Amino acid sequence: ANNGYDLWLQYKKVENKQLLKEYTENIQAIQFFGNSETIKTALKELNIGLSGLFDNQNLFENDSPKNHLLVFGSESQLDTTYLNLIKTELSKVKKDGFVIKQIQLNGNSQIVISAKTDVGVLYGVFRFLRELQINNSLKDINIVDSPKIDVRILNHWDNLDRTVERGYAGFSLWNWHTLPDYIDQRYIDYARANASIGINGTVLTNVNANALILTPQYLEKVKALADVFRPYGIKVYLTARFSAPIEIGGLKTADPLDADVIKWWKDKTAEIYNTIPDFGGFLVKANSEGQPGPQNYGRNHVDGANMMAEALEPFGGIVMWRAFVYSEHDATDRAKQAYSEFVPYDGKFKDNVIVQVKNGAIDFQPREPFHPMFGAMPKTPLMMEFQITQEYLGFSTHLVYLPKLYEEVFETDTYREGKGSTVAKVVDGSLHNKKITGVAGVTNIGNDINWTGHHFLQANWYGFGRLAWNPHLKSEDIADEWIRQTFTNDENFIIPIKKMMIQSRETVVNYMNPYGLHHIFDTGHHYGPGPWVGSLPRPEWNPTYYHKADGFGLGFNRTKTGSNATAQYAPEIAKMYNDISTTPEKDLLWFHHVSWNHKLKNGYTLWDGMALKYQEGVNEVEDMISLWNSMEQYVDSQRFKEVKMMLNIQLKEAKWWRDACLLYFQQFSKQDLPNGVEKSS
Ligand code: GCU
Repeated sequence: ANNGYDLWLQYKKVENKQLLKEYTENIQAIQFFGNSETIKTALKELNIGLSGLFDNQNLFENDSPKNHLLVFGSESQLDTTYLNLIKTELSKVKKDGFVIKQIQLNGNSQIVISAKTDVGVLYGVFRFLRELQINNSLKDINIVDSPKIDVRILNHWDNLDRTVERGYAGFSLWNWHTLPDYIDQRYIDYARANASIGINGTVLTNVNANALILTPQYLEKVKALADVFRPYGIKVYLTARFSAPIEIGGLKTADPLDADVIKWWKDKTAEIYNTIPDFGGFLVKANSEGQPGPQNYGRNHVDGANMMAEALEPFGGIVMWRAFVYSEHDATDRAKQAYSEFVPYDGKFKDNVIVQVKNGAIDFQPREPFHPMFGAMPKTPLMMEFQITQEYLGFSTHLVYLPKLYEEVFETDTYREGKGSTVAKVVDGSLHNKKITGVAGVTNIGNDINWTGHHFLQANWYGFGRLAWNPHLKSEDIADEWIRQTFTNDENFIIPIKKMMIQSRETVVNYMNPYGLHHIFDTGHHYGPGPWVGSLPRPEWNPTYYHKADGFGLGFNRTKTGSNATAQYAPEIAKMYNDISTTPEKDLLWFHHVSWNHKLKNGYTLWDGMALKYQEGVNEVEDMISLWNSMEQYVDSQRFKEVKMMLNIQLKEAKWWRDACLLYFQQFSKQDLPNGVEKSS
């Protein structure tokens, strides 16, 4: 049985006999240089990996001659003979990047893995193991790869009572009760999984922060986790509740310009670094959704962020200040608030502040146009915040391959420095020469046996890490790697399943939010449909606020005749979205209030076309099911059955979405369903 616990680190015996022969001939012994914890960790992983892949527990213990070595160590430790043979490659490595190269020495081929740092060596070792897992040949292997992003970080929305906000895969991994003395094997496996894809940071706690995490009793537990993660190159960060000086510090105010408050944060920060010398820094949600922040004291985001940044500066820590802000005071269009509140402060933040921006201006919808802040703050580092957990995408029940969504965002052109100014170039810092870069992902993991609830959603954690390392990668290549490592190298499985994964994102858009519809989820839990909800006290919580269905048509007019949110984009983009005929149909109802009888590009009216899209989504889930059912021979029985059950739930719910939305909107369109759309039962 395979319960999925091992993720993409399955290290199953290489089935292809010829390749296995090539691998075992090329790796007869291991030689390593250096003795840091990270180097020892790399050795440990190689032992786990190779003994699995070669199905040999007594690996390297026989006395046959060992001519072909696998050699690893960082630039400063590696023997000069090896160093000289990889000099050119090593000079191309940046930061924690690495080299993997086959060299010839004394008539024998050897494989060398090296880097400028020990963590780079560890990444190289994981990459090497991946090459074997995905069955690449080692012949003339010569890989140089460096991360394009500095801070590649998971955001856990985990509460101290182990519930997880918007978490659908069990409870929090962090057992605050048994920490610091009990180290769960999960912590180590979590670190392995993250390091294998280059993730180098983790925020342990919810953005809706509880100040208690900053008390000595908890910091001791945080330290225990930091100690586990350190050899894997993972730094620990915490969310900092803005009102902590009041709640745990006994002060009367949390005003960021108050001398006692400033001192409190300085002392607290020093205390943290005293406990955890490589602590990463703070993630802050301030003045959003009722959270405290500088505006409570008549101050602004810069005052708040810079005060904390100053406390962290002597220790090399950073502040990730979130731009997810909205309030009922800007009731005309919530989509505009973050840009309005932040862009005027461009250039005012301290160097160790990075503003963390969600991929879209509303909230992790199945599809959103890119957030207009990307590209609009040339002097301020902006990091991307993606959601890996599927708050608005069917939780851990629906199979949706999210790297496709991430890729779509990264590839979009902001036009801020002319054509080609993609979001990826904003985020990797190259467009405006940024000093720090980052990509954050709100995790989808919990203590479910398989970590993510649904086996296929492990791919979203994996793909997030790969894209945080390099936002220019293709989601399709990532899916290929993931399938090979997680399931099998058999093309009969890979080709159709990869196609299914790639399609799955558009499928969920089709049956939930086609043509730019958004935020029509039932209130609070955001799971099923709720387009009819319209009586919540805050206008921008109501789905009716977003779809604006009436007798004329459907959609939110954000053009210059409406909320004018389009003006927050570069002129090229604004022009495109202001005109219904140049607006991509995938974003139609995001930007326009469109007549039910508007002719779509396919010739159907909006009403008919929308109804058919909902049906298309349902049909596509049916196709996923028949495909999966034909794949039984390639998958172990437990994972096969579990995925099958999930897909059947997904089908029921795709129909639920179709029926609920069409019946509701039909009250406004007053038109029959077109041929081809199944009537609800
Ligand atoms: C969404 C989500 C909240 C979360 C918030 C945030 O609104 O529903 O649970 O706290 O995003 O990102 O801060």
